[in-house]
Amino acid sequence: MNEIFETIKKIAFDIDDAIKNHDLGYSDGENSSGESQLKLDVESDLIIERAFREVSSVKNIVSEEKEGVLELHSDGEFTVCYDPLDGSSLVDVNLSVGSIFGIYKGELKAQNLVASAYVVYGPRIELVIATRDSKPTLYRSIGGVFKKISEVSLNEKGKLNASGGTQQNWLPYHKTFIDSLFASGYRLRYSGGMVPDLHQILLKGGGLFSYPATSDKPNGKLRQLFEVIPFALVYVMAGGEAIDDKGRGLMDLVPSFPHDTSPCFFGSKYEIEALKKAYGV
Ligand code: F6P
Ligand code: MN
Repeated sequence: MNEIFETIKKIAFDIDDAIKNHDLGYSDGENSSGESQLKLDVESDLIIERAFREVSSVKNIVSEEKEGVLELHSDGEFTVCYDPLDGSSLVDVNLSVGSIFGIYKGELKAQNLVASAYVVYGPRIELVIATRDSKPTLYRSIGGVFKKISEVSLNEKGKLNASGGTQQNWLPYHKTFIDSLFASGYRLRYSGGMVPDLHQILLKGGGLFSYPATSDKPNGKLRQLFEVIPFALVYVMAGGEAIDDKGRGLMDLVPSFPHDTSPCFFGSKYEIEALKKAYGV
């Protein structure tokens, strides 16, 4: 698996270069979730595909920007599911964006996720890698190489609150719960990019990130294989929790198809307990 992590580091520098120097316009296509693709989404996807073509342990790749499963090496061991450029529409306003990777062995379900990684392209490039046997590790690019900075841990209770979706479409009990967090002192932190928003909560000790079921998106917006499950491993291994709107652990999700979504909540233990009470689950 080390070869996969090393490849992700190379990918990170290539995508960062594309973000900083290449065309920002729209392509002619849409992805499987019906979102317009930027040229940068397509380019980032190709950078990743090309990189994993060189890694024989990668059997298949599944991308947010591709329709189905693409086989790269029939004898490979792992499937890498990835969101090449999460939050890409934020590039044109110069906010942070990211890439997310889930590394699965066998059938594509959360229990078979062996590791995950995400990259934040911000004022600095940062990388977090999570496996199932230790705390996630934070790396930072210094002088063109990733240096290990620290292990990452969540406090029991945090201070930040970030909820996605249009408030008009939130279910009444979600609105009541989010308001109650603010009323008890939580601070709003929401950029609209899943990677930097979850990264901020993780590195600042904790809080809650929600992408709930909404009246217009009853299954939420965020995709299980490339977004939800990889971050669930990061949060669980950092000592937090990750659940859906029925109180089920996101690390038990079994997607029915590659682009399946799920309502999702990631946070410190205290906020997730409070959420369960508010949702009655
Ligand atoms: O990939 C989807 C995404 O861009 C995430 O990065 C982000 O958390 C979410 O959409 C934001 O959605 P909304 O604008 O509905 O809150
Ligand atoms: Mn995304």
